[in-house]
Amino acid sequence: MINGATVVVGVVGSPIRHSLSPLIHNAWIAASGLDAVYVPFPPPVDRFTAFVEGCRGGAIRGLNVTLPFKEAALACADRASVAAKSAQAANLLIFEADGTIIADNTDGAGLLGAFAAQAPGFDPRAGPVVILGAGGAARGAAAAFAAAGCPEVRIVNRTFEKALALAADLGGPVHALNPIAGMKVFGDAMAVINATSVGLDGAGALDITLADTPPTAVIMDMVYKPLVTPFLAQALALDRPTVDGLEMLIRQAVPSFEAFFGQPPPTEVDARAIALKALGMSA
Ligand code: ATR
Repeated sequence: MINGATVVVGVVGSPIRHSLSPLIHNAWIAASGLDAVYVPFPPPVDRFTAFVEGCRGGAIRGLNVTLPFKEAALACADRASVAAKSAQAANLLIFEADGTIIADNTDGAGLLGAFAAQAPGFDPRAGPVVILGAGGAARGAAAAFAAAGCPEVRIVNRTFEKALALAADLGGPVHALNPIAGMKVFGDAMAVINATSVGLDGAGALDITLADTPPTAVIMDMVYKPLVTPFLAQALALDRPTVDGLEMLIRQAVPSFEAFFGQPPPTEVDARAIALKALGMSA
């Protein structure tokens, strides 16, 4: 039962109604026997900073942050991890008792963790990866692969200027490539990742052919609704190994839970099966 001692954590986003995070975290909380609750919060978009400021001092122990607040969340923080700084976004805020707000970003760890789980032989250091998109999700993915030692991170985006700007900003192994201009993008790619929202809820399909990728290239889609997007369906039809966005969602939740409660989620909970059921699919 919720009482005066119950630890409150949650997720803040807009909209938040369809977030699977409360389901996953509350299942972990229950199985761990913690006196805690994970609550979804949808503040008005222009009240996000006021909402976070009101949490200073620990009324809420920590918050995950999702769209459209990830950049604003970083701006609210007093200290930020390297991952949050390089992604220029935070998906995790921890409220210390002394009033300090600490920002982190576990999306990159979630992305690489999903590869480790579903494409076990994949090594980010072994060759080029292609990231489709140049928004916040693409930025976080590019920063994570660069930090993992990937020798070349290729940004491909509908609006090439945005890909150029992202590559110039991140620097190092991150480059912008334009397949329309005849640049060779896919032939030697170790992985291709959709970091656009195309395919979400059945809306549209990426105008990208994966036929030129090597047979071993791992194809990943950050969109997990539907679990098999048209992009992943194309990869499966070509017999390419695939990684899905649901695995990334679960893997980013693990370090968040650890930051909230100082212990890992219980292994006996099948978070993927719980999430799949909520999405109307079986495990
Ligand atoms: P997020 O923070 O989730 O990454 P965003 O910053 O709005 O969201 O970025 C959305 C990305 O999806 C962009 O790279 C966008 O391409 P543009 O820069 O050309 O706008 C890409 N995107 C959105 N709709 C698309 C479509 N129909 N086809 C191709 N790319 C699309």
